[in-house]
Amino acid sequence: SLDDMNDYDYLFKILLIGDSGVGKSCVLLRFTDNEFRTTFLSTIGVDFKIRTINLNGKQTKLQIWDTAGQERFQTITRNYYKGAQGIFLVYDVTEKKSFDNIGKWVDEVKNHGEKNVTMFLIGNKCDLVNERVVSTEEGEMRAQELKMSFLETSAKDNTNIAECFRVMAEEIE
Ligand code: GTP
Ligand code: MG
Repeated sequence: SLDDMNDYDYLFKILLIGDSGVGKSCVLLRFTDNEFRTTFLSTIGVDFKIRTINLNGKQTKLQIWDTAGQERFQTITRNYYKGAQGIFLVYDVTEKKSFDNIGKWVDEVKNHGEKNVTMFLIGNKCDLVNERVVSTEEGEMRAQELKMSFLETSAKDNTNIAECFRVMAEEIE
């Protein structure tokens, strides 16, 4: 519409964090553009995209910030935690290290995020069934420990991508 500033009922700021290579940018690209990229272009600093979804009849604008997982950007990316109502913590089901590092990312949120932020655990690349090293049950248990929602996704196959954002938006609302 012409009045682009007011064509929504809610505006939520959401962040994606997690180790480099787990697929944060691909998850976001699938959600906003319904595309998938096979070549790995590591994010430099931060990037953001917007998508508006209908949530129980309310136009809900999601402003989604995609952060670099590489450690050298951490002092930059942690500045973007402020004001975020929702944060996705993403690991790769084929990379044990990225799963073990979830605790480190939770600490980042505790140290730099809002007190009442909604966190959500994502195990991405579930299409790679033969390379999987983190089971669905392990992911579920970790999410339970951390008291957050959990879904396994595939940006490649478009599995559970829209669901993650919908559930997140519902939990924030
Ligand atoms: P940084 O920007 O460095 O933090 O990495 P990132 O988490 O944004 O990773 P990115 O989205 O760039 O994806 C890394 C690699 O994993 C790319 O080669 C993608 O094609 C691949 N990838 C991402 N998601 C999936 C998926 O769901 N399945 C498969 N098979 N590969 C994926
Ligand atoms: Mg990226």
